[in-house]
Amino acid sequence: MSLPSILTMAHNLIQSAVGPGDIAIDATAGNGHDTLFLARLVGNTGQVFSFDIQNEALANSKKRLQEAGLSNRVTFVHAGHEEMIAHIQAHNRKSPIRGIMFNLGYLPKGDPQIITRPASTLRALKQSLELLDAGGMLTVVFYTGHPGGTEEARTALSFLESLTSKQYQIIRYEMLNRNHAPFLVAVYIP
Ligand SMILES: C[S@@+](CC[C@H](N)C(=O)[O-])C[C@H]1O[C@@H](n2cnc3c(N)ncnc32)[C@H](O)[C@@H]1O
Repeated sequence: MSLPSILTMAHNLIQSAVGPGDIAIDATAGNGHDTLFLARLVGNTGQVFSFDIQNEALANSKKRLQEAGLSNRVTFVHAGHEEMIAHIQAHNRKSPIRGIMFNLGYLPKGDPQIITRPASTLRALKQSLELLDAGGMLTVVFYTGHPGGTEEARTALSFLESLTSKQYQIIRYEMLNRNHAPFLVAVYIP
């Protein structure tokens, strides 16, 4: 056996919070793996909002969802996740938001210069915590192996560490014996 990867751990945590009929957000659509995972969890009465700034990422994600026959559950948004609140509010939502996933960094097999950035990631994390309902889970996967990744992680962690434990349960999951190992932070709102 081996320990769960950070991506598996992120999925396990999100799965414990998101159910049929809920709204979930993929803050970094990328190649659509997390969007597809969320679309399955919310069922045919739920909805997923999936954000990315790159047309290429949105096209890859749409294709993945179409192939799975689940694209009708997903609203793809060509915008930065730092504009998340404005886009979600425009949809007059009636169901709770119980899961938000971030997978930071750059699009695998895409342009490595197009990366998530400290200031916009911070704004998006703050908005995520405003949007999440009680019982909601936020997962953020950080990568520090590329230029800018360490600064982004430092900015986000200093915000997350400042949150009161009376309101937020926050954990970090990380391989300790590997240099620049990606790591997962999850925030649960009881
Ligand atoms: C590591 S990939 C995400 C992988 C994805 N979760 C998957 O399942 O395939 C990071 C993505 O974040 C996107 N991105 C960068 N800045 C962004 C921003 N401000 N808002 C939303 N997405 C952004 C990139 O275009 C890239 O596609």
